[in-house]
Amino acid sequence: MRSTIEQINSTLSTKRYGDLPDWMKHFDNLPDTQPSESQFESELNIGAAHDLSEDQAKLLRASLEGLIPWRKGPITLFNEFIDTEWRSDWKWDRVKPYLHLKDRNVLDVGCGNGYHMWRALADKPARVLGIDPSPRFVVQFYMLKKYYQGKTPIDLLPIGIQDLPGNELFDTVLSMGVLYHRRSPMDHLIELADQLRPGGQLLLETLVIEGAENDVLLPDGRYAKMPNVWFIPSVLALSKWIKRAGFTDIQCVDESVTTFEEQRTTDWMRFHSLKDFLDPNNPELTFEGYPRPRRAALIATKN
Ligand SMILES: C[S@@+](CC[C@H](N)C(=O)[O-])C[C@H]1O[C@@H](n2cnc3c(N)ncnc32)[C@H](O)[C@@H]1O
Repeated sequence: MRSTIEQINSTLSTKRYGDLPDWMKHFDNLPDTQPSESQFESELNIGAAHDLSEDQAKLLRASLEGLIPWRKGPITLFNEFIDTEWRSDWKWDRVKPYLHLKDRNVLDVGCGNGYHMWRALADKPARVLGIDPSPRFVVQFYMLKKYYQGKTPIDLLPIGIQDLPGNELFDTVLSMGVLYHRRSPMDHLIELADQLRPGGQLLLETLVIEGAENDVLLPDGRYAKMPNVWFIPSVLALSKWIKRAGFTDIQCVDESVTTFEEQRTTDWMRFHSLKDFLDPNNPELTFEGYPRPRRAALIATKN
């Protein structure tokens, strides 16, 4: 395992990510101001229009546009509405009723720009830490954090789960949209277990197929045009994996087919999105002929 510092340096390497200096310039150009109000409860809304002068509002928009594509949201920052590719709030609404967050140390693995971490603040956790190895999302997170005035510590480390020492430090661990990107899903689940104290709660959200307890799809190549998708289990198979990784009380709390309303191209994410990833003649199938994206969320307790 690489040390955490080596991994942070690698994620923030300007040699590896040539656009990073540009993104940092946009970060530095953000207007200096204090938000008069912030809301994390039913939406993510930081600051108000009157907190900025007209010139500052222009600067803010230019900086935010410099970090396009914005995938997870929606986010309103000083009345600037970032209409992200995903309605991540819908996923949050589906899983939040099942989560224990109050007074807890929460880890969000593969947190992207941190959208769900901000929303988690509404439940008054003790601390929220996210990890994500994608530098664009890290910069997006810190663009919002610049305007955070709350007391709950919230941070994002630019590392992958494999580079975070597993010391059973967390009470709640979230892993949403990550498992299918991992070549070894059992190792991912064991890495998640290693982050949790005994009795701690896991939320695992991932792509699934319909099927029986040993049904798993391993795409031949791409899945919905994504090159980095490995294993897509049935809910029953996933439940078995989670049990083998050291969990009990496993419960599937949501299963839903992703709709064109939930994932789509917007002004803030101008590339192809879900409708371009499906078979144009049969939207029940992906472009490659696999079942279209269906996602499940499972909760479990660490033994
Ligand atoms: C599909 S996005 C999900 C983002 C967010 N959790 C959500 O549910 O909307 C997957 C995220 O996992 C991150 N990721 C990929 N490999 C990872 C790893 N080894 N450890 C942690 N995060 C990883 C990616 O950078 C990306 O932001």
